[in-house]
Amino acid sequence: MGQAITQPTQSAPIGVFDSGLGGLSVLREVRDLLPHEDLVYVADSGAAPYGDRSGEFIEARAAAIAAFLVAEGAKAMVVACNTATAVAVRALRERFAIPIVAIEPAVKPAAAMSRAGVIGVMATSLTLASENFRRLAEQYAQGARIVPQPCPGLVELVEGGRLEGPEVHGLVAAYVLPLLNDGVDTIVLGCTHYPFLLPVIRAVAGPAVNIIDPARAVAGELGRRLEAEGLLAEGKGHGGTRFLTSGSAAYVEAVLVTLWGRHAKVQSLPGNYAAPD
Ligand code: DGL
Repeated sequence: MGQAITQPTQSAPIGVFDSGLGGLSVLREVRDLLPHEDLVYVADSGAAPYGDRSGEFIEARAAAIAAFLVAEGAKAMVVACNTATAVAVRALRERFAIPIVAIEPAVKPAAAMSRAGVIGVMATSLTLASENFRRLAEQYAQGARIVPQPCPGLVELVEGGRLEGPEVHGLVAAYVLPLLNDGVDTIVLGCTHYPFLLPVIRAVAGPAVNIIDPARAVAGELGRRLEAEGLLAEGKGHGGTRFLTSGSAAYVEAVLVTLWGRHAKVQSLPGNYAAPD
């Protein structure tokens, strides 16, 4: 049986985490869809990007952050990182008893939407090489051809709050143009950092290409899980949103203004949950 410190209540917070700030693209959908909920977001910026790390490292980080969120009394958790889902979600679900909703590349809706039957999946190399992704492709491609596109460097741009300009355009084009040349008419954003680059990705891909971000669907799934477990927050008041990071709180606070759209206080993750050097 998994660990749960106390029996979660409706008024308990929801924990959300990512390797860094990309998971804010999921958090904003959760915030919008479930306005009464208290949210706690952990950016593992001290360990980002996960895409360059080993599976064992990411599994250990995901377990440490999940343990922190459970100790904070979280009633549910959102893994807002495709890479962490790919390598760690099974272990998290075995260890922690609360509902865990996890983002993964949206192959199924992409296959349904693609007229050409050719889908591009932009994600980290780790996500694309994972057993989880192989299973998704096998189960849900429905005959469509999947073109995997690793995108090194995009996470770092978003972590730095750099969302436009020639450098961003150049790197996005280097990843998106080969997909178009391959006949792709539908692109899955398989990393939670990439939705912040959507205007540039859209500009390169053109208006005819479908671009799929599953963040809204993840928020919807979270709402359904909470409702099924009798854990939806009651009341009309707006819930709070708390931010923590394993990296530099001052740096994350500065970038948060760009990605979250307003100032918010960022706290340091307690030392015993911090990322190793
Ligand atoms: N946001 C993470 C994901 O969805 C980025 C992974 C990374 O830090 O490399 O995959």
